[in-house]
Amino acid sequence: MAAPRRIILDCDPGHDDALAVMLAAGDPRVDLVGITTVAGNQTVEKTTRNACAVATVAGLSLTPIVRGADRPLLRPLRIAPDIHGASGLDGPPPLTPTVVPRPGHACDFLIEQVMASPGDVTIVATGPLTNVALALMREPALAETAREIVIMGGAYGRGNVTPAAEFNIYVDPEAASVVFGAPWRLTMMGLDVTHQAACPEEVQERITAIGSPLGIFAGQLLEFFRSTYRREQRMDDPPVHDACAVAYVVDPDLFGTRPARVVVETTGTHTSGMTVTEFVEGGDSRHDVGISVRRDALFDVLVEAIAALG
Ligand code: RIB
Ligand code: CA
Repeated sequence: MAAPRRIILDCDPGHDDALAVMLAAGDPRVDLVGITTVAGNQTVEKTTRNACAVATVAGLSLTPIVRGADRPLLRPLRIAPDIHGASGLDGPPPLTPTVVPRPGHACDFLIEQVMASPGDVTIVATGPLTNVALALMREPALAETAREIVIMGGAYGRGNVTPAAEFNIYVDPEAASVVFGAPWRLTMMGLDVTHQAACPEEVQERITAIGSPLGIFAGQLLEFFRSTYRREQRMDDPPVHDACAVAYVVDPDLFGTRPARVVVETTGTHTSGMTVTEFVEGGDSRHDVGISVRRDALFDVLVEAIAALG
């Protein structure tokens, strides 16, 4: 087996972010160098606490968790309690994390880790791109030094906050524009592909049936996530959006992608946050866009990762 892919997961837990953490920590093909948190699904206080809670249940006592931006670059913060609840991780019984965040700021952690190992670290971003944009602005060489970036966000079709915009991009379009405009290889796992990764009840039952505290915890997260997606998004099964971004690093063959050029709309009255996507042929593009996923294989990988964490 090839050496594990070293990743930093920048996230806003968030139910699907929590599953992304479990996949990144549990699959042997990935080495989770650290977790950075950003305001998005909830305030950064809550997303950081939630990352610590997931790490506590998953037994990730040695994985650095570093708190990041508490608001978008320019705009007021928009959170998503309608989907993730007041805590940002509603569903399981409340728990007091024993894992605590490291001192410092997420964007400095991103810079330090990437610049210390040129070409080695992949950034996987599953929340608003504020931390990544701040890191790029502080250290422009980040884009040439990171191996690549994989993001959950955007859509070449419809959004989920407005017809044009997906939540992660909608919250901080200016940050997204900086990130998409930087000279690195970027793969966008947008709603077009993540909505194909909706978690069936039988998969949720497989996860709960693992029987470990983490499996039961993950099953409770999915049960809550299912309830809010049914109510708010009229979807029977909740999409594991963020797990798709990690899964692409674990095994790119789980996905179909197409080369594209993606720019982010930041000024449109009705289209702010839109990831305007032009598919291109040939190699002259830095962007790839997810268009399909082998759903059952993806969930097999997720279930195995959760089971592996014990
Ligand atoms: O639109 C879905 C994305 O927004 C996911 O990353 C979810 O966690 C929220 O952050
Ligand atoms: Ca997220």
